[in-house]
Amino acid sequence: MTRLPEFEFSPAQMQMPPCPHFEDCGSCQLQHVKADVYQDWKVQRLKELLAENNLVAEEWIDPVFVPVGSRRRVTLNVLRDDGNVIMGYNKYHSHELAPINQCLLLTPQLSRIVSVLPEALTKIAHKGQAIEVMLQEADDGIFDCVITGLDETGSRQTGEIASFAEKCGLARVSFRKDTFAESITQIAVQTPRKTSGILCVALPAGAFLQPSAVGETALVNAVMNGLKRQKTGKKDKIVDLFSGCGTFAGSMLEKYTVHAVEGDWPMASSLIEAAKGHSRFSAEVRDLIKEPLVTRELRDFKAVVFDPPRAGAKEQSQMLAKSDVPLLVGVSCNPSTFARDAKILVSGGYKLRTIQMIDQFIWSSHMELVGVFEK
Ligand SMILES: C[S@@+](CC[C@H](N)C(=O)[O-])C[C@H]1O[C@@H](n2cnc3c(N)ncnc32)[C@H](O)[C@@H]1O
Repeated sequence: MTRLPEFEFSPAQMQMPPCPHFEDCGSCQLQHVKADVYQDWKVQRLKELLAENNLVAEEWIDPVFVPVGSRRRVTLNVLRDDGNVIMGYNKYHSHELAPINQCLLLTPQLSRIVSVLPEALTKIAHKGQAIEVMLQEADDGIFDCVITGLDETGSRQTGEIASFAEKCGLARVSFRKDTFAESITQIAVQTPRKTSGILCVALPAGAFLQPSAVGETALVNAVMNGLKRQKTGKKDKIVDLFSGCGTFAGSMLEKYTVHAVEGDWPMASSLIEAAKGHSRFSAEVRDLIKEPLVTRELRDFKAVVFDPPRAGAKEQSQMLAKSDVPLLVGVSCNPSTFARDAKILVSGGYKLRTIQMIDQFIWSSHMELVGVFEK
């Protein structure tokens, strides 16, 4: 039953997995573990990882566990054989498709779309074609959809795409050839928007949003509480590195002067557009792996917030370690790269003041965390 053979659970710690797809689907690994055991296991895993890396947090802030049924973003694999459209996630550690017709992680609104998706896709996915469908909920229950694996409309008629959008209740549908290609919008009834603090951003197709609204709120609270450790006012400059569409920048702008840095041009420019006219906001598009902010640039800031992708922010951490920025707030969806980067910061003289786990990836071994450092 268990997907993580290296971790043994006793019969008393286990339960019947609630999802009928658990055996086959590779998305969840820990549904067979009782809720309290699962939660303790996750916290313990993080503690062990930090200890293995000689990282000692002065304070552990209570973890937040996002409830089942709260995920607002999903990417499903879809395969069209002769007659049927088969939809699912990959099997565990495999590229083979595990068909599903429901997913307990998703919000009710997203679940409703997923339930009609295979039928709605029959005219969109051609025979023998494998595609990926990303669905994401923006403000006011508006849904965005990006289909990867379709470059042109081909023989599809605009009417068919419109009918697909209508059946699923999607505000916008975009296609892109592969994960590196630009998304081309095929139909847009409305532009999906996302409000973060005082900013309302018109989202580019497939923009990054935190996977759940509850998780996002917990992360924003954790970042804002971390920033309170230094006496900072509206004139003090804070930099938001890997800012995406401004999940943190929008709230930070209510209290501070904010500079946002993001590598993805469409997301950065949407954020810049949304913040037009705010005198305390600036932004730049920059690859923070190839060109991290250097100590000379970091001198301007009272605090740094950084939220890199899973690969972490090694190059930027090396620069931060050499800086005198008094306060750093690190957000991470990968504890291993977080630990690596935290070690770099600690070796540069930073102290790990607080750590908080925010479990946005329910029933999986993944987790999100926020660490606050001071020098
Ligand atoms: C985990 S997301 C966080 C986004 C944002 N902080 C949020 O919470 O919505 C990581 C962000 O880093 C950006 N990114 C990835 N690689 C990057 C790079 N080399 N340089 C700058 N930004 C990068 C991604 O485009 C993405 O927006």
